[in-house]
Order: sequence, then C-alpha cells, then structure tokens
Amino acid sequence: MQIVMIGSGYVGLVSGSCFADFGHRVVCVDKDTCKIEALCAGNIPIFEPGLDRLIATNVAAGRLSFTTDLAPAVAAADVVFIAVGTPARRGDGHADLAFVYAAAREIAPAIRGFTVVATKSTVPVGTGDEVERIIRGTNPRADVAIVSNPEFLREGAAINDFKRPDRIVIGAEDERARAIMEEVYRPLSLNQSPVLFTRRRDSELIKYAANAFLAMKITFINELADLCEKVSADVQQVARGIGLDNRIGPKFLNAGPGYGGSCFPKDTLALLKTAQDNECSLRLVEATVVVNDQRKRAMARKVIAAMGGMVRGRTIGVLGLTFKPNTDDMRDAPSLALVQALRDAGARIRAYDPEGMDAARAMMPEIDFVASVEEAAEGAAALVIVTEWDAFRALDLKRLGSRMEARALIDLRNIYNADDVLAAGFSYTGVGRPTCEAADSLLQAAE
Ligand SMILES: NC(=O)c1ccc[n+]([C@@H]2O[C@H](COP(=O)([O-])OP(=O)(O)OC[C@H]3O[C@@H](n4cnc5c(N)ncnc54)[C@H](O)[C@@H]3O)[C@@H](O)[C@H]2O)c1
Repeated sequence: MQIVMIGSGYVGLVSGSCFADFGHRVVCVDKDTCKIEALCAGNIPIFEPGLDRLIATNVAAGRLSFTTDLAPAVAAADVVFIAVGTPARRGDGHADLAFVYAAAREIAPAIRGFTVVATKSTVPVGTGDEVERIIRGTNPRADVAIVSNPEFLREGAAINDFKRPDRIVIGAEDERARAIMEEVYRPLSLNQSPVLFTRRRDSELIKYAANAFLAMKITFINELADLCEKVSADVQQVARGIGLDNRIGPKFLNAGPGYGGSCFPKDTLALLKTAQDNECSLRLVEATVVVNDQRKRAMARKVIAAMGGMVRGRTIGVLGLTFKPNTDDMRDAPSLALVQALRDAGARIRAYDPEGMDAARAMMPEIDFVASVEEAAEGAAALVIVTEWDAFRALDLKRLGSRMEARALIDLRNIYNADDVLAAGFSYTGVGRPTCEAADSLLQAAE
C-alpha cells in the first residue's frame, strides 16, 4: 500500500514508520519545515525509545520518506491518514479541529483515483461527516471514502503498542475502504490483533470513551489514596487487592500526582463538550476532571507539609518533569502545576529530567535546570519524585543526602520502600501510604 501520513508528530511518526516496517511505502508530511528538514537529515525531533532505529532502517530500505509537499504524495496514495494535533480550543475546551479541517482542505484537490482518508487524530463524534463535506465540497469529483481509525498508542511504549495493539478500531461504512484498511493492517491481523470494524461515529466515540474511562480509573485510585492516608491503609495493597479481580484488572491503579499528558486532559474535556452539546450529562467524567485538576496543587501542599510547612526561601530538587517516563512530552504534565504552586509558596526549584528539559525550559523559565540528580539535590531541603524514570528508581540516597540541607523524600509515584528511605536518613512521604519520619531528618530541617 502507498500510505501518506499528514502530521509527523508523536502519532504520525510512530505509525508512519511502523507501517513502513510492515512493508508499506509511507510518506510522512508535515507543515513544520524544521521538523521535515531534521527528519531528512536523520535527526528525530521527538524522544521515543526505538524510533530512531526504526526510522533509519525504513528510510534506508526506501520505504519511508519525509516531505512538506503534500499534493504529489496524496496523488499517489491509497490511504491518507490525518494525524495532526487536536488540542483543547482556547477559551471553551472543545477539541480544536482547525488542523484537521485545514488538512482536509489541502488533501481534497490532490486526490487522484480511489483514496481512503482515515482520521487517526482524536476527533469528536461527527467530525468524519464534516471532513467528508469539506473534501466533497472542495473536490466534488474526488473518488474518496472517509474512515475513522483512532490511535491508542502510548508515548514511551509507542512502537510496541502500535505493533502489538490490544485492538484496532476502524469506522468504515464503505466496502472498498474496508478492504483497503484490512490490507493496511493485514500484518497485525495475521498476528492475531483484533480488528474491530464499526460505523464511523462509533469508532470516533470509542476513542474518547476509552480515554475517559482510563482517566476515571486513575482518578478513582487517587481519591482512594487520599482516604488511605486518613485511615492508615496502604493504597498499593488496596490496588493490588482490587486489581487481581479480572473484572477490574491491575492496570491504571497506580496512585500518583494526577493524570496529565497530551491526551487525557484534553480528551476528557472534549468529551464533556460533546455531551453538553447533545444535552447529555457525563457526571462521572465531570467529577474526574475536577478531582484531577485539584489534585495537582494538592500535591504541592503535600510536599510543603512533608517539609514541615515552610518552603519559603528553601530549595526543592524536582526529579522528573515529563508527564510520564520515556517521553520528552511536557504537554499538561503534572509537574507544571506542582512547580508553579511550590514557587507560589516561595520555594526555589532545581529540576532534572532525563529527556524533557528542552521542552520544559520554554514552559518553566523561572526555575533552575540542572544536569543530574546530584545537582538537583545540592543544598535542597527535599527531593520530590514527580516522574518515575528508571534512573530514579535506585538512587544512592545516603550520598545524595550528604549534599542536602535537610533530608525529605516525597515520592509521588510510590517507587520507594519507606524502610529503605528511612535507613538512608530521609523522611518518607508517598501517595496513599503512611508517612514516615527518620530520626534525624526533621531535626536537620530545623537547624
Ligand atoms: N501523542 C499521543 O500519545 C497520542 C496517542 C493517541 C492519539 N493521539 C492523537 O493523535 C493526534 C496527533 O497527536 P500528536 O501527539 O502526534 O500531535 P503532535 O502535535 O505531536 O503532531 C502533530 C503534527 O501535525 C503537524 N500538522 C498540523 N497541521 C498540519 C497540516 N495541515 N499538514 C501537515 N502537518 C500538519 C504539526 O506540525 C505537528 O508536527 C491528536 O489528535 C492526538 O489526540 C495522540
């Protein structure tokens, strides 16, 4: 198959290079000239494990190329995927479909022969109808079918998710389009990945329903974590106890600082807007959004409490800034609200992230970025683990403690065992677990 990917961001680049790896010929298009120039020069503009090698192999094999020139690529395509951004619209929180519609307007006049246009971007139910209106309105002679094919990959594990998906959802009501999409995904269906064909509207809604459900699940365990702290229970034990029930399942039950990232915050909001526009209330999703928003500043209060209630003028070492490990994506990362709230309380921040600092610098200009965990600890009164990068899982706390003004570890991802932390002379504060004081950690804080 001849495939064109409009938008070469996290989704377009990963799906484009995976399709090429299956043997299809793929052209990735982007408006961003710098991005395309970098890709043509062999530089990958995002951090995603394994992506550099996957791209290099498929470029070398002649199956993958990059361009800003959409028209010739579309003219030769069997399938054109739209994988542009759909951020929350400023002001009202609806999904901003400006990029999707602009892409549709650019694709329309370039179509030659029967072409499937598949929306991979996350778009509200009914968007496929509007894309169809735009394409048919712009080019009434185009022989085209519009399908929905939402993407479920997770940043940080994107290649594996794309190649071994739990399911592939395709909303297609045209038989020819369905046959082409079957061909596109044949390597995966041969590998037993379930392909679910639905109507276009069902497919569009499945993506939002999935993300809202996952956001709700995380928020549920986060609220339970708060209760655990009040009643001296351990949320990790509770999560394990409920997660072993197959009806619940163990995933997305790690209590933490609240969900963030490029999808859940905007997708839950967009789903609520769709519901409102259709005079329907999704109260569980509404509550999820509110609870999660409040949680981020609540995490700052947790840090301040763990430091004895006073942070003005004191330094806090923040470990991890990206919304999750193994990505450089800072969109809606919980660290943004947390750092802001700590700064509002007068703290100085020294932050380190293995991959996210370039993106973070632009969003948090007033904090100190340092090149290692050791530097983040220098003179700090507390270390806060915000993102659970593997590099933070086995810190030499004794050594780090010797550089610090006071020794408090606030582990917002519950990756440490309290006893080990206490043994290194730190106080320990997790999420939904009992707080533990080391004999001398607060003494030092008071000195
Ligand atoms: N990032 C994820 O983990 C993820 C997962 C599943 C679904 N999604 C959805 O996929 C979509 C894309 O997300 P992303 O994270 O890849 O976004 P992104 O911002 O990383 O990439 C979008 C790219 O599209 C380009 N673009 C915009 N308009 C264009 C046009 N007319 N022609 C060519 N290029 C154009 C932009 O320059 C940008 O490089 C969104 O709807 C998102 O919700 C994202």
